[in-house]
Amino acid sequence: MSREPISRRRALGLLGLGTAGAAGWATGLGVPPSDRPKSAARGLAEPQVLASRDGLLDVRLVAAPGVRLAGRDTAGWGFNGTSPGPTLRVRPGDLLRVRLVNHIDQPTNLHTHGMHVSPSGNSDNPFLTIEPGDSFDYAIRIPARHPAGTFWYHPHHHGTVADQIFAGLVGALLVEGAGGEADLPVNGDRLLLVTDTTLDGAGRVASPTMMARMRGREGDLVLVNGQRQPVITAAPGSVQRWRVINGCVSRVLALRLDGHRLTQVALDGAFLPAPVDRDQVMLAPGNRADLLVRPTGSGQYALVSAPYDRGGLGMMGGMMDGGPSASGQVTLATLATAGPAATSPSLPETLPAPAVPQGPVTRQRRLTFAMGMGGMGMGGMGFTIDGRAFAPDRDDQSVALGTVEEWTVVNTSPMDHPFHLHVWPFHVLAGSAGMPPVGVLQNVVLVPARGWVRLRIRFSDFAGRSVFHCHILDHEDLGMMATVNVRG
Ligand code: C2O
Ligand code: CU
Ligand code: CU
Repeated sequence: MSREPISRRRALGLLGLGTAGAAGWATGLGVPPSDRPKSAARGLAEPQVLASRDGLLDVRLVAAPGVRLAGRDTAGWGFNGTSPGPTLRVRPGDLLRVRLVNHIDQPTNLHTHGMHVSPSGNSDNPFLTIEPGDSFDYAIRIPARHPAGTFWYHPHHHGTVADQIFAGLVGALLVEGAGGEADLPVNGDRLLLVTDTTLDGAGRVASPTMMARMRGREGDLVLVNGQRQPVITAAPGSVQRWRVINGCVSRVLALRLDGHRLTQVALDGAFLPAPVDRDQVMLAPGNRADLLVRPTGSGQYALVSAPYDRGGLGMMGGMMDGGPSASGQVTLATLATAGPAATSPSLPETLPAPAVPQGPVTRQRRLTFAMGMGGMGMGGMGFTIDGRAFAPDRDDQSVALGTVEEWTVVNTSPMDHPFHLHVWPFHVLAGSAGMPPVGVLQNVVLVPARGWVRLRIRFSDFAGRSVFHCHILDHEDLGMMATVNVRG
């Protein structure tokens, strides 16, 4: 993949030159119309599945350039030659071994997003660096009582997380029920890993301007399992489980399906207490939803992401010609129903939701996510938590293992920031603008512009250091990340 030297990118960004010269980004150099697929749209393809056996999944993941995206050969990056990389299927109690081989031209590492596993050593450790040409052996022990659900993996090397995900380095990580029994009686179980990227005419991944990074880049192409607008076929009357992962760097998905309601059964890898019918399901970057779709009639129905405005850069943005960060409507896929009606299994009225943390709250904390001037030199903008940019060696929060805490995350900026905490899932108690409690454990929550959320977190099972951050990964790379040290 060809990239401009950092110095030039940064120089352009620092001068606020979000102009046509900057890496073809501002001009929206996407796929030229002639490159759009001419043949009939393709059926939804899924990445290769690598499943555990006898308590072990032992895989090799080679991060390297050269993948098909949107039906073209590109210089994008993938794992084992595809983007998304292989889907890893494990069960509670399993050992997941991954030999990560770095064949890209910059340091990388691996994070198992949403998994309640150890953050230390060669487990889900975000502080590791695997240099180009090197490999590293991860060993991730999945607790016997881990929830069954939809998770994902992606690199987490601070400073280049957004670039590496935008280039294609993502994959799904699915936890099955402990006994291997079907979690839910459905006719079909599909993965929809949504990413976005921007390719130039030669199939290279575009580098965003500093302005685009500050807003949080959104790609011209929105892909599902690396495909552009694939077709999902299903029999009318059947029940389909769609595991939707928002793997976009910055884009918020507001999912709607023409002619259908979406029945949400899980959020962020944990079942809801009961299925909930929705017209629209919102997923911040990093969020996942398991949706039941009951196709009706015979026809074609668009799965879209409705327009969503994440807010802007405020006065700074105005001075630097930063527009709002609103994305228009985009079609993700098409549901095509045809054939004789299927007999649908009957669905449970309640679901095995993990318990929400109870018990005495030992400590309250307040964390402030802010965007300010001066953090990055003249013309730049600082992305901070409690006034500081990320420093990997500093302990920002110290927590006693086994305690329950309440964190109020305050966003003083004019832009939404999705809060994400590794390892320890949280329950949203309340938020600004009357945000209702969600009633389920989750890993990512959107903190509205100039708003707040209050979370309850049980720091159970694992001591060690990890991180929390904005899951607009450009913001994380610009410093909006902090450490938590859980002491046993
Ligand atoms: Cu999906 Cu720390 O990230
Ligand atoms: Cu994560
Ligand atoms: Cu942010």
